[in-house]
Amino acid sequence: MTSSPRTPNRAGVGLRLPHLAEVVATRPPAGWLEIHPENFLANPHATELLIEVSHHYPLSVHTVGVSIGSVHGIDREHLKRVRALVDTIDPILVSGHLAWSTHEGEYLNDLLPLPYDDEVLRLLTAHIHEVQEGLGRPYLVENPSSYVGFTSSTMTECEFLGELVRRTGCRLLCDVSNVYLSSHNMGFDPYRYIDELPADAIGELHLGGFTSEADEATPGEELLVDTHASVVADAAWDLYAYAVQRFGPRPTLIEWDNDIPQLATLLNEAARADTVAAHAVSQEARRATAC
Ligand SMILES: [Fe+2]
Repeated sequence: MTSSPRTPNRAGVGLRLPHLAEVVATRPPAGWLEIHPENFLANPHATELLIEVSHHYPLSVHTVGVSIGSVHGIDREHLKRVRALVDTIDPILVSGHLAWSTHEGEYLNDLLPLPYDDEVLRLLTAHIHEVQEGLGRPYLVENPSSYVGFTSSTMTECEFLGELVRRTGCRLLCDVSNVYLSSHNMGFDPYRYIDELPADAIGELHLGGFTSEADEATPGEELLVDTHASVVADAAWDLYAYAVQRFGPRPTLIEWDNDIPQLATLLNEAARADTVAAHAVSQEARRATAC
């Protein structure tokens, strides 16, 4: 992966509205910040503050309303509004989800799963081309947190993501916590999943907290739910270290969207990501030297 001069070398945190004024006023030592554009598009005051923030931090735009998996197509008006914000704050990265979240113009408050087959691959290829043309820059696609699969799928998620990269030139956002959570819920090996992703295409890593809940479909079993409401689990930190060794260091972000704590808690998690990544890199260097 080539890195631009603006590529951050420290972990960042998701910037949510409750912390926006504090970030403007105190300029905390975050490596970079990621925003959801949908929080700002109808909020001129917040956008003004965000423009101020953009003068002091590398920013990333993580869309939650660009539904690349919808059969009814991309909402071009929404995409234009995102483009206008992107042009204003000039982020280092723009990303979204391998999911669908709109139907016949209605926005659903969820990221819904897709089968991985040729028909869906063709649909998403066309939509990612459209998004990248609309934004005038590459788009990063994030692996989902999974709770169900489709018997009609003809390829694995990693094969599907790899084909999207090959056909569109898009890049990937590997949410390491999603990999761990999905591996638990769906019964696969998370380390093998990391091995099977195309390393050169990984442009960003996410880490977020998840919650354990009783699995109503399978009494006695637990389901991990992608709540973004807690610190990162130890098992996800271990997988993150492995991902850094496999992909090399990548811009890493701490996501926290519910029960949002003090900003200092997010910054502590980001500092832990820096420590884990540095240790993983030095271990990998020692291993390479020994070979
Ligand atoms: Fe994520």
